[in-house]
Amino acid sequence: MQKERKLIIAGNWKMNKTVAEALDLVQGLKRELGAVKEIDIVVCPPFTALGEVSKQILDSNIRLGAQNMSEQNEGAYTGEVSAGMLKEFSVRFVILGHSERRQYQNESDALVCKKTLAAHAASLKPIVCVGETLQEREGGKMEEVLGQQLRGSLAGLTKEQIADTIIAYEPVWAIGTGRNATPQQAQQAHAFLRKTLAEQFDGAVAKRVRIQYGGSVKPGNAREIMCQPDVDGALVGGASLEVRGFSDIVKNSI
Ligand code: PGA
Repeated sequence: MQKERKLIIAGNWKMNKTVAEALDLVQGLKRELGAVKEIDIVVCPPFTALGEVSKQILDSNIRLGAQNMSEQNEGAYTGEVSAGMLKEFSVRFVILGHSERRQYQNESDALVCKKTLAAHAASLKPIVCVGETLQEREGGKMEEVLGQQLRGSLAGLTKEQIADTIIAYEPVWAIGTGRNATPQQAQQAHAFLRKTLAEQFDGAVAKRVRIQYGGSVKPGNAREIMCQPDVDGALVGGASLEVRGFSDIVKNSI
Protein backbone atom coordinates (compact mmCIF):
# COMPACT_ATOMS: atom_id res chain seq x y z
CA MET A 1 0.00 0.00 0.00
CA GLN A 2 1.11 3.60 -0.60
CA LYS A 3 2.14 5.29 2.64
CA GLU A 4 3.64 8.63 3.53
CA ARG A 5 6.01 6.95 6.00
CA LYS A 6 7.49 3.44 5.73
CA LEU A 7 5.45 0.99 7.79
CA ILE A 8 7.13 -0.59 10.81
CA ILE A 9 5.65 -3.77 12.26
CA ALA A 10 7.07 -5.09 15.53
CA GLY A 11 6.31 -8.30 17.42
CA ASN A 12 6.20 -7.93 21.20
CA TRP A 13 6.70 -11.47 22.47
CA LYS A 14 6.22 -10.37 26.10
CA MET A 15 7.13 -13.06 28.68
CA ASN A 16 6.87 -15.91 26.19
CA LYS A 17 9.31 -18.27 24.44
CA THR A 18 12.23 -20.26 25.76
CA VAL A 19 15.44 -19.91 23.75
CA ALA A 20 14.58 -23.03 21.72
CA GLU A 21 11.06 -21.75 21.00
CA ALA A 22 12.38 -18.33 20.10
CA LEU A 23 14.79 -19.86 17.59
CA ASP A 24 11.98 -21.87 16.01
CA LEU A 25 9.88 -18.77 15.65
CA VAL A 26 12.59 -16.56 14.23
CA GLN A 27 13.74 -19.18 11.75
CA GLY A 28 10.17 -19.47 10.50
CA LEU A 29 9.90 -15.69 10.22
CA LYS A 30 13.12 -15.53 8.23
CA ARG A 31 11.73 -18.13 5.83
CA GLU A 32 8.42 -16.31 5.40
CA LEU A 33 9.56 -12.69 5.52
CA GLY A 34 13.19 -12.80 4.38
CA ALA A 35 12.37 -11.10 1.09
CA VAL A 36 10.19 -8.28 2.43
CA LYS A 37 11.76 -4.89 1.77
CA GLU A 38 8.66 -2.68 1.82
CA ILE A 39 8.11 -2.82 5.59
CA ASP A 40 10.51 -2.55 8.54
CA ILE A 41 10.18 -5.73 10.60
CA VAL A 42 11.22 -5.93 14.26
CA VAL A 43 11.02 -8.79 16.77
CA CYS A 44 11.19 -8.14 20.52
CA PRO A 45 11.98 -11.38 22.38
CA PRO A 46 12.48 -11.58 26.15
CA PHE A 47 16.01 -10.62 27.35
CA THR A 48 17.00 -14.27 27.76
CA ALA A 49 16.53 -15.02 24.04
CA LEU A 50 18.12 -11.84 22.63
CA GLY A 51 21.57 -13.37 22.17
CA GLU A 52 20.48 -16.40 20.16
CA VAL A 53 17.84 -14.56 18.14
CA SER A 54 20.41 -11.89 17.35
CA LYS A 55 22.74 -14.47 15.77
CA GLN A 56 19.90 -15.85 13.65
CA ILE A 57 18.90 -12.53 12.14
CA LEU A 58 22.39 -11.11 11.63
CA ASP A 59 22.23 -11.38 7.85
CA SER A 60 18.50 -10.73 7.44
CA ASN A 61 16.01 -7.90 7.05
CA ILE A 62 14.58 -8.60 10.52
CA ARG A 63 15.70 -6.19 13.26
CA LEU A 64 15.97 -6.80 16.97
CA GLY A 65 14.15 -4.98 19.75
CA ALA A 66 13.99 -5.34 23.54
CA GLN A 67 10.88 -4.94 25.67
CA ASN A 68 12.29 -2.63 28.33
CA MET A 69 15.56 -1.24 29.70
CA SER A 70 16.90 0.69 32.68
CA GLU A 71 17.22 4.46 32.62
CA GLN A 72 20.63 3.96 34.30
CA ASN A 73 23.87 3.12 32.51
CA GLU A 74 25.38 0.77 35.10
CA GLY A 75 25.74 0.14 38.80
CA ALA A 76 23.87 -1.27 41.77
CA TYR A 77 20.44 -1.77 40.18
CA THR A 78 19.62 -5.41 40.82
CA GLY A 79 17.61 -7.04 38.07
CA GLU A 80 17.99 -4.21 35.59
CA VAL A 81 19.45 -4.26 32.07
CA SER A 82 21.11 -1.23 30.48
CA ALA A 83 21.05 0.14 26.94
CA GLY A 84 24.75 -0.71 26.57
CA MET A 85 24.05 -4.34 27.45
CA LEU A 86 21.30 -4.49 24.82
CA LYS A 87 23.64 -3.07 22.23
CA GLU A 88 26.02 -5.98 22.77
CA PHE A 89 23.35 -8.11 21.08
CA SER A 90 22.82 -5.68 18.21
CA VAL A 91 19.48 -4.55 19.59
CA ARG A 92 18.26 -1.53 17.60
CA PHE A 93 14.85 -0.83 19.15
CA VAL A 94 13.43 -0.84 22.66
CA ILE A 95 9.79 -0.78 23.73
CA LEU A 96 9.33 1.71 26.58
CA GLY A 97 6.33 2.51 28.77
CA HIS A 98 4.19 -0.41 27.67
CA SER A 99 0.88 -0.29 29.55
CA GLU A 100 1.72 -3.58 31.27
CA ARG A 101 4.82 -1.92 32.75
CA ARG A 102 2.90 1.22 33.62
CA GLN A 103 0.30 -0.96 35.36
CA TYR A 104 2.36 -3.72 37.06
CA GLN A 105 5.67 -1.91 37.57
CA ASN A 106 4.17 1.50 38.25
CA GLU A 107 6.19 3.18 35.51
CA SER A 108 5.42 6.89 35.31
CA ASP A 109 5.70 9.25 32.36
CA ALA A 110 8.75 10.80 34.04
CA LEU A 111 10.50 7.43 34.25
CA VAL A 112 9.56 6.54 30.67
CA CYS A 113 11.02 9.88 29.64
CA LYS A 114 14.34 9.14 31.38
CA LYS A 115 14.46 5.78 29.62
CA THR A 116 13.65 7.39 26.27
CA LEU A 117 16.53 9.84 26.69
CA ALA A 118 18.87 7.03 27.79
CA ALA A 119 17.88 4.98 24.73
CA HIS A 120 18.69 7.87 22.40
CA ALA A 121 21.98 8.51 24.17
CA ALA A 122 22.90 4.92 23.30
CA SER A 123 21.56 5.20 19.72
CA LEU A 124 18.70 2.79 20.35
CA LYS A 125 15.38 3.70 18.77
CA PRO A 126 12.67 3.84 21.44
CA ILE A 127 9.13 2.63 20.78
CA VAL A 128 7.22 4.74 23.32
CA CYS A 129 3.77 3.37 24.21
CA VAL A 130 0.75 5.44 25.19
CA GLY A 131 -2.89 4.52 25.52
CA GLU A 132 -6.07 5.14 27.46
CA THR A 133 -8.11 2.70 29.55
CA LEU A 134 -11.74 1.94 28.72
CA GLN A 135 -12.86 3.98 31.70
CA GLU A 136 -10.86 6.98 30.50
CA ARG A 137 -12.24 6.64 26.96
CA GLU A 138 -15.82 6.30 28.15
CA GLY A 139 -15.33 9.23 30.51
CA GLY A 140 -14.39 11.44 27.55
CA LYS A 141 -10.78 11.70 28.74
CA MET A 142 -8.96 10.02 25.86
CA GLU A 143 -7.28 13.14 24.50
CA GLU A 144 -6.36 14.42 27.94
CA VAL A 145 -4.71 11.12 28.88
CA LEU A 146 -2.91 10.65 25.57
CA GLY A 147 -1.68 14.24 25.57
CA GLN A 148 -0.36 13.95 29.10
CA GLN A 149 1.40 10.63 28.47
CA LEU A 150 2.93 11.81 25.22
CA ARG A 151 4.19 15.15 26.52
CA GLY A 152 5.44 13.57 29.76
CA SER A 153 7.22 10.67 28.08
CA LEU A 154 8.97 12.85 25.50
CA ALA A 155 9.85 15.94 27.53
CA GLY A 156 13.26 17.35 26.67
CA LEU A 157 13.87 15.39 23.47
CA THR A 158 15.47 17.25 20.58
CA LYS A 159 13.76 17.40 17.19
CA GLU A 160 16.31 14.95 15.81
CA GLN A 161 15.55 12.54 18.64
CA ILE A 162 11.79 12.77 18.22
CA ALA A 163 12.10 12.09 14.50
CA ASP A 164 13.91 8.89 15.46
CA THR A 165 11.35 7.86 18.06
CA ILE A 166 8.47 5.53 17.30
CA ILE A 167 5.20 6.07 19.11
CA ALA A 168 2.85 3.13 19.73
CA TYR A 169 -0.79 3.97 20.34
CA GLU A 170 -2.05 1.04 22.39
CA PRO A 171 -5.51 1.51 23.90
CA VAL A 172 -5.41 -0.58 27.07
CA TRP A 173 -8.89 -1.99 26.38
CA ALA A 174 -7.69 -3.45 23.09
CA ILE A 175 -4.58 -5.24 24.37
CA GLY A 176 -4.98 -9.00 24.47
CA THR A 177 -8.76 -8.69 24.49
CA GLY A 178 -9.55 -9.54 20.87
CA ARG A 179 -11.32 -6.19 20.73
CA ASN A 180 -9.25 -4.03 18.41
CA ALA A 181 -9.87 -0.34 17.88
CA THR A 182 -11.78 0.26 14.66
CA PRO A 183 -9.71 1.79 11.85
CA GLN A 184 -11.58 5.07 12.45
CA GLN A 185 -10.86 5.03 16.20
CA ALA A 186 -7.18 4.34 15.51
CA GLN A 187 -6.97 7.12 12.90
CA GLN A 188 -8.63 9.61 15.23
CA ALA A 189 -6.21 8.86 18.08
CA HIS A 190 -3.17 8.84 15.78
CA ALA A 191 -4.15 12.18 14.23
CA PHE A 192 -4.50 13.61 17.73
CA LEU A 193 -1.06 12.28 18.71
CA ARG A 194 0.52 13.78 15.59
CA LYS A 195 -1.14 17.12 16.29
CA THR A 196 0.23 17.01 19.85
CA LEU A 197 3.72 16.26 18.51
CA ALA A 198 3.41 19.22 16.15
CA GLU A 199 2.56 21.47 19.11
CA GLN A 200 5.29 20.02 21.34
CA PHE A 201 8.01 19.99 18.64
CA ASP A 202 7.06 21.24 15.17
CA GLY A 203 4.83 20.31 12.27
CA ALA A 204 7.61 19.16 9.96
CA VAL A 205 9.10 16.78 12.50
CA ALA A 206 5.66 15.52 13.55
CA LYS A 207 5.11 14.43 9.94
CA ARG A 208 8.20 12.25 10.09
CA VAL A 209 7.32 10.35 13.28
CA ARG A 210 5.99 6.85 12.79
CA ILE A 211 3.02 5.99 14.98
CA GLN A 212 2.20 2.30 15.37
CA TYR A 213 -1.16 0.93 16.44
CA GLY A 214 -1.22 -1.92 18.97
CA GLY A 215 -4.07 -3.93 20.47
CA SER A 216 -5.47 -7.17 19.06
CA VAL A 217 -3.89 -6.74 15.62
CA LYS A 218 -4.52 -9.90 13.57
CA PRO A 219 -4.00 -10.92 9.93
CA GLY A 220 -7.67 -10.14 9.32
CA ASN A 221 -7.68 -6.54 10.57
CA ALA A 222 -4.07 -5.41 9.97
CA ARG A 223 -4.51 -4.01 6.48
CA GLU A 224 -7.59 -1.90 7.10
CA ILE A 225 -6.02 -0.41 10.24
CA MET A 226 -2.68 0.32 8.55
CA CYS A 227 -4.45 1.84 5.53
CA GLN A 228 -5.34 4.81 7.70
CA PRO A 229 -3.24 7.87 6.84
CA ASP A 230 -1.75 8.41 10.32
CA VAL A 231 -1.19 4.73 11.14
CA ASP A 232 2.39 3.81 10.27
CA GLY A 233 2.67 0.26 11.49
CA ALA A 234 1.70 -2.10 14.27
CA LEU A 235 2.95 -3.39 17.59
CA VAL A 236 1.69 -6.96 17.76
CA GLY A 237 1.46 -9.09 20.91
CA GLY A 238 -0.46 -12.37 20.79
CA ALA A 239 -0.45 -12.78 17.02
CA SER A 240 3.34 -12.33 16.90
CA LEU A 241 3.93 -15.57 18.80
CA GLU A 242 3.33 -17.75 15.75
CA VAL A 243 5.03 -17.68 12.39
CA ARG A 244 1.76 -17.72 10.46
CA GLY A 245 0.09 -14.94 12.42
CA PHE A 246 2.97 -12.48 12.31
CA SER A 247 4.02 -13.18 8.74
CA ASP A 248 0.44 -12.87 7.49
CA ILE A 249 0.09 -9.51 9.26
CA VAL A 250 3.22 -8.27 7.48
CA LYS A 251 2.30 -9.75 4.08
CA ASN A 252 -1.26 -8.42 4.26
CA SER A 253 0.09 -4.93 4.88
CA ILE A 254 2.46 -4.67 1.89
P1 PGA B 1 -1.98 -7.85 21.64
O1 PGA B 1 -0.87 -7.01 22.42
O2 PGA B 1 -1.61 -7.82 20.17
O3 PGA B 1 -1.88 -9.25 22.20
O4 PGA B 1 -3.29 -7.21 21.88
C1 PGA B 1 -0.30 -5.83 21.88
C2 PGA B 1 0.74 -5.28 22.82
O5 PGA B 1 0.55 -5.31 24.04
O6 PGA B 1 1.79 -4.76 22.37
